[in-house]
Formats: sequence, C-alpha cells, structure tokens
Amino acid sequence: MTPLLFDAVLSKDEVRQFRAHLDAAEWQDGAATAGEMARDVKRNQQIADEARIAIDLGNHIVRTLGEHPRFTAAALPRRIFPPRFNRYADGGTYGMHVDSALMRVAGTPHTLRSDLSVTLFLSEPDEYDGGTLEIVGSAGIQSVRAPAGSMALYPSTSVHRVAPVTRGVRIAAFFWVESWVRDNAERELLFELDESIQALRAGSGAHEPAVLRLTGVYHNLLRRWAIT
Ligand code: NI
Repeated sequence: MTPLLFDAVLSKDEVRQFRAHLDAAEWQDGAATAGEMARDVKRNQQIADEARIAIDLGNHIVRTLGEHPRFTAAALPRRIFPPRFNRYADGGTYGMHVDSALMRVAGTPHTLRSDLSVTLFLSEPDEYDGGTLEIVGSAGIQSVRAPAGSMALYPSTSVHRVAPVTRGVRIAAFFWVESWVRDNAERELLFELDESIQALRAGSGAHEPAVLRLTGVYHNLLRRWAIT
C-alpha cells in the first residue's frame, strides 16, 4: 500500500483559510517533539500542541476525516492523534527516521499506538523545491509530492524522510492513526476486499447473494482481526 494518496481532502478554499491562520501563527523548533534518535536529523518548525489555532484546525481535519469513507475503509481508525503542523524552509529537512510506536497525547493521560502515519499537504508543489516525502518500502523508495489539500497515508512501520526544502516554504499537517487492525497486511487485504465489494454493489452485483456473502466475509475477517 505504501503510500495511499487521497485527493482534495480539504478544498482549495479550506486550504486558503488554513494557510491564512498558519502563515500568521507562532512557529517553534520542531526538534522539541522528536524522539532522541530523530532529534539529530529533524530541522523544521512546528506549532505548539496547546496553541488554540493548532487545536481548532486539527479538530477540523479530524471531523473531515470522519466523513471520508475511503479513508475510513483504508485506515480503519480507532483513534486519531491530534494533528500537528510543520513548516520546512531554508534547507529544512527531516532525515531518515522511524516514528515512535507509542505517542503520548500532550495534556491528557492517553497514549496511542502509531499504526499509520499521515501527511496532509497545505502548500502547492510549485511553492517549494525539494521537500519530497520519501518512504522506504519493499519496492524501493516511494516519493510523494502532492497538491495542497491532498493527503498521504503510509504504514508507521516504514523508514521515511522529508528531503531538504531548497526554495520556498512547505507547510503540512501530520498525525498518526491507531487502527482497529494493527497488522498492515491484514488491513490492506480488508481494504482491497471492501473496495471490490463496493465496486460490485455499484455495478450489477447489488442484489447478488454472493455479494451479500462476501460482505459477510469482510465483517467476519474484521471481527477476527480487530483489536479491542
Ligand atoms: Ni516521521
């Protein structure tokens, strides 16, 4: 699956509103929230977790994803980490690293397991050079550079980096998903099955008994694999 892309999660109008707030926000050194190993390679800026604007925009993203059937089918989200915002400029980069497995939610007693990592792009690709999200997968390195408002979803188990931004500014939201299905292969099979069933339902198979049975298989697999 590495990585899945979602187009136009936010409209261009929403992106403009986000950017008006973010361009005026107070940014601080991103190394503050990096794990010990990642700190050495992280050169970017972030907005403080407790900043009102980060909370409000983050809530807007989480609400939007709640109404996104394809995201829900792919991620099977159990809990979503409150989105954070980052900014890369002037050679800013986040070198090859892995995301921590357990993410503490600041100001709460909660800790999430990171199963999936998400980048929601808030700058257009022509606003900056470099800044490619590079994810190491079994088929080599996958590079992502996507329009503002679109989103990349990839397994948190992968090694990845953000290449240096050599011109302009790259702004994005990023966060993690704890999934009902922890195992990437199981989750990907369920997503494939779900998409196939949806396609059959939309076509001639809507009233086929076999489609109903396949739907049963989907839910029974989810029952076996969901972690409660
Ligand atoms: Ni990362």
